Amino acid sequence: MLKSMLLFVLSTWFLNGIVFSQDMTPDEAATYNKFLEDQNRLWTDLFKNYNPTISAIYTLHTSKFVDQNRTAHPPITELNLTLGMLKLVDVVEVEEKVTFLFDYIAEYKDSRLKWDPLEYGGIDHIYVPQKAVWLPEITIADAHEIKFFESDDAPRTAWINYNGTTGFYTSTVASVICQMDVFKFPLDHHECGVSILFHTYFADEYEIKSLMGDIGKPLALLGNGEWKVTYVGVDEEPHKTGDVQRFIARIERNPGFYVALVMIPAFFINFLSIIALFINIEDVGEKITVGLTNIMAMTFILVILAADLPKTARIPLLAIYVIVGLVIVMTSIAVVLVLPFIRKYQKKNKNNEMGEELIKTRLGRFYNWLKLEYVLMMIFQMANFINFIILFM
Ligand SMILES: *[C@@H]1O[C@H](CO)[C@@H](O)[C@H](O)[C@H]1NC(C)=O
Ligand SMILES: *[C@@H]1O[C@H](CO)[C@@H](O)[C@H](O)[C@H]1NC(C)=O
Ligand SMILES: *[C@@H]1O[C@H](CO)[C@@H](O)[C@H](O)[C@H]1NC(C)=O
Repeated sequence: MLKSMLLFVLSTWFLNGIVFSQDMTPDEAATYNKFLEDQNRLWTDLFKNYNPTISAIYTLHTSKFVDQNRTAHPPITELNLTLGMLKLVDVVEVEEKVTFLFDYIAEYKDSRLKWDPLEYGGIDHIYVPQKAVWLPEITIADAHEIKFFESDDAPRTAWINYNGTTGFYTSTVASVICQMDVFKFPLDHHECGVSILFHTYFADEYEIKSLMGDIGKPLALLGNGEWKVTYVGVDEEPHKTGDVQRFIARIERNPGFYVALVMIPAFFINFLSIIALFINIEDVGEKITVGLTNIMAMTFILVILAADLPKTARIPLLAIYVIVGLVIVMTSIAVVLVLPFIRKYQKKNKNNEMGEELIKTRLGRFYNWLKLEYVLMMIFQMANFINFIILFM
């Protein structure tokens, strides 16, 4: 008997030690206990007649069985979606798929969940499991895949304010379809976003509004290595049931990788090829080698590009650049191959007719100095350079 009493005393002392181990003074403990009591009472009263499977949506707006002229309708259920986070994770151009970390706060009013704070010791908000309250429909449209961060071990929580405003925070990874025009690749930018709508209710019963929240991170941190985010905002698009709310991000590719690994090498390969072609024009075999090497280098670059691009009808500017570069070098080869014949013809003409006289004039001397092949080389280098510059316009 004594032993069990001692055990009881010890265990209560021990349990108290656990519950109030965070250095609560007796006054604090009393306040907390009062709060727990009030909250318990509030919970019981609030959920006594509440069934979370019964919707809060008022459906009599268009009922034929109600005298519409004489009925005072309550306001329609309004859901406020506030953007919590929209961070770009990944862009797969080939599949036109863009993945975002997409978090939102949903808030709506469930008039059944109201109370007077003064009756419950001043409590103005409580936290409940989401399963305990009715949740309205929120559908993410045009999505490949949505992952919600939830598990049975950690049920998601909602809050309820005394005026019936109920809300919850949701984190998702949303992979959405985004039409991408990659014509300007790698200097392309796109507008992609997550669209939210509802299918269940009528437009006069329910409404979703999107609001811009405080993301808490600068735009510079919302992109990934390849893409930077230049704008995040909200938008509305008409749809057959109410408007579609869109959280949009404008993204812009960091072109550095392609500039350094494709554009500049292609430019210099062409630059050197053209020089190699126009000096020592008598060696035909060497010209063919230069041409072949150039074709191989350019084809290799095109293969790198092909792996990254969607196979759209419009060929991207960068591919056009590489192809035009190839055409410029091919044309140079053709010109170089006929150049010796022109030379021969010129020499013959010079010798026959006004050769001696022309060389005497200043202009003639200038022409002689400025060999035809160097002029042509300049022209092809210019073409190569213009082709390069046009990419950045
Ligand atoms: C309601 O009012 C409209 C015009 O405001 C009228 O045409 C209609 O007959 C009324 N309906 C009833 C049931 O009184
Ligand atoms: C939704 O947002 C509007 C405007 O910001 C506000 O007036 C309204 O009270 C909000 N509704 C809810 C249920 O939070
Ligand atoms: C309900 O109360 C909360 C907290 O006091 C407030 O932020 C919110 O705007 C109120 N909502 C409405 C619809 O009155």
